[in-house]
Amino acid sequence: MPDLQKYTRYLERIWETQWLTNGGEFHEQFEERLRLYLGVEHLNLLVNGTIALLVALQALRINGGEVITTPFTFPATPHVLYWNNIRPVFCDIEKDTMTIDPVQIEKHITPDTKAILAVHVYGNPCDVEAIDSIAQKHGLYVIYDAAHAFGVKVHGRSLLEYGDISALSFHATKLFSSIEGGALVSHSHKQKERIRFLRNFGIANEEHVIGPGINGKMNEFQACFGLLHLDVVDKEIEKRHQLTDLYRKKLANLDGIRCLKDILHVKHNYAYLPILIDQDAYGIGRDRVYAILKECNIMTRKYFHPLCSNYPCYAALPSSIHSNLPVAHRISNEVLCLPLYGELAPSTVEDVCKIIQEIPNTL
Ligand SMILES: Cc1ncc(COP(=O)(O)O)c(C=O)c1O
Repeated sequence: MPDLQKYTRYLERIWETQWLTNGGEFHEQFEERLRLYLGVEHLNLLVNGTIALLVALQALRINGGEVITTPFTFPATPHVLYWNNIRPVFCDIEKDTMTIDPVQIEKHITPDTKAILAVHVYGNPCDVEAIDSIAQKHGLYVIYDAAHAFGVKVHGRSLLEYGDISALSFHATKLFSSIEGGALVSHSHKQKERIRFLRNFGIANEEHVIGPGINGKMNEFQACFGLLHLDVVDKEIEKRHQLTDLYRKKLANLDGIRCLKDILHVKHNYAYLPILIDQDAYGIGRDRVYAILKECNIMTRKYFHPLCSNYPCYAALPSSIHSNLPVAHRISNEVLCLPLYGELAPSTVEDVCKIIQEIPNTL
C-alpha cells in the first residue's frame, strides 16, 4: 500500500476541488508520469485491464471473425473477444515461457482471422519478433495482453512498444496497482485520440458523439493511488527480485521442480513465482502440493488452471480439443504460483522451500 498520509493529502485536494472523475488533475498527472515511467509515446489510462482490452479491439475495429489467442491466461483475455462478437481460436503455448507458440500460430489462420491476441504471461515476453513477422505476412493485427508485464524491457526497450496495442492491468493483485485500473499503449497520436473518445462514450464535445464508445474512465481516487504507487514500485520489484533469487536457489536441484529462468536481454519485473511440478519425478502432483501447503497456511495459486479452453463457454470450440493444446494442458496441470510480495520475509521463503524439499521424503 502507498503511504496513507500522502494519500490523505491527495484526498483533501479532491474534497477541495470536488473533481471526482472525467479527466481530473490527478488523472492527467498519472497518465503523463506513467507514460514517462514506462518509456512509451502514447498511453491512455482506463478503468481496468478488461475494459482496456475491450477498447483495444474497438480501437482497431475488430468486432467479428476470429482472433488467435492462448488458453493459458486469465478469463478476461478470451472473454473480451466473446464480448466483441469474435470467436477465440486457441493456440498452444511454448513450454519455457508459457506464452503463445509462434510455430503453432500459422496453422490456425483462416480467411476469418483478424488478429493475434497474445499474453506476456508472468511478464515473460512473447516471441514478439516471430509474432510480428507472422502478422505482417498475413495482414493481421497484434494485441498484447500485458496485464503482467508492467515495466518489462527487452534490449532496453519497453515490451509495450511491440504489436499494435498493448493492454496493462493495475488491479489490486498486480505488481503495480491503482486499486482497479488499466492502460493502453498505442503507436500514433491518432490512435491515442481514438482511444480517448472510446473510453468516454465516444463524446467529442457537448454537441458531438463521434462513435459508440463505452465508460472506461479512471477516476481521481484510482489515479492518486497509482501516482503514489509509482513512487514505490521500483523498490517492490527489487524486493521481489531478491526473493525470486532465494526461491530459485533453494529449489534448484530438487527433482521434479522447475523454476523459470531469467531471459537474456530481458529486464524482468518478478511479478510472480510460478514453479512446475512434474509428478513422476517429484513423487506427487501439483494438486496435492497445493493442498499440503494450504494445510500449512501457505496460500498458493493454480494460476492458470483450468485452461480457458476448458470453460463451458469455450469447450465446444474446435480449437479447444485437447490434442490441439498438449503443452498448455501439461503446464496448466503442473503450475503452482508461490507467495511473492515485497513484505514477504526471506525466512518465510526458506520455510516454504523447506516444506517443498521435504514432501518427497514423507511419501
Ligand atoms: C492476463 C490478464 N489479462 C487481463 C486481466 C484483467 O485485468 P483487470 O482485472 O484489471 O480487469 C488480468 C487480471 O486481472 C490478467 O491477469
